[in-house]
Amino acid sequence: MNPYETDELVTQYMEFHYGDRYFEVENYPAKCAQICIELIHNGATRKALDLGCAVGRTSFELARTFDEVIGVDLSARFIECATQLKKRGTLDYSIITEGELVIPRQADLAALKLDQIANRVTFFQEDACDLSARHEGYDLIFAGNLLDRLQDPRRFLDSVHQYLNMGGVLVMSSPYTLLEEYTPRENWLGGYSEDGQDIRVLDGMKIALEPHFTMLGEPVDVPFVIRETQRKFQHTIAELSCWKRIK
Ligand SMILES: C[S@@+](CC[C@H](N)C(=O)[O-])C[C@H]1O[C@@H](n2cnc3c(N)ncnc32)[C@H](O)[C@@H]1O
Repeated sequence: MNPYETDELVTQYMEFHYGDRYFEVENYPAKCAQICIELIHNGATRKALDLGCAVGRTSFELARTFDEVIGVDLSARFIECATQLKKRGTLDYSIITEGELVIPRQADLAALKLDQIANRVTFFQEDACDLSARHEGYDLIFAGNLLDRLQDPRRFLDSVHQYLNMGGVLVMSSPYTLLEEYTPRENWLGGYSEDGQDIRVLDGMKIALEPHFTMLGEPVDVPFVIRETQRKFQHTIAELSCWKRIK
């Protein structure tokens, strides 16, 4: 079963996107949107795509600046949560303290000042590697922690330019976890040594994106914390890189 369809992951991601801040680490989906918005500052802000949007926080945050935002995720459960939240403005969920003990929580778009712009956002359950014909003409594509969940990340990077306008920006963030349960070893972009040389995922991304993109600035670290239970948290540092479409 896709882990992103389970109750456990739904509650973890609802809290990750809309819940408390842990260990003083900023809200990652909102921080990523802020970086995207700063990056685009004088550029076109008509249409943005959030690939692997999960329960939707980055999509809503991007709508502060973009006229239209599309959030896409493979998980039907995640898309259902994002869609219900958009429709009702609030969504109840619960987080685990320990075992079967839980605390009730509520995501609230008005409390985040996102309620007035939520109608700019639409969510679709789709495969980021096989997008439907509706996707074209984006000024920004954000793919947050998606790359290391794909079966064939190279195929994704080879084709993503076609959805972006010329001069549009692709923002990729990932902790490069390289798990064979998601990406078979032969499809890794990096994370191995070849002819005595270390190949990093960023090196593989540069090669794959080179035909259509130039990298903007240097990659930055963006930390995040996902709460599993009252006493267990994942603290991860994603690397975020920005790429401008030039061909
Ligand atoms: C590690 S989570 C990151 C979610 C979100 N971007 C964030 O940073 O909180 C990976 C997300 O990608 C989604 N996903 C995995 N494979 C996908 C695919 N082929 N197309 C679209 N979404 C996918 C999962 O359902 C999950 O929501």
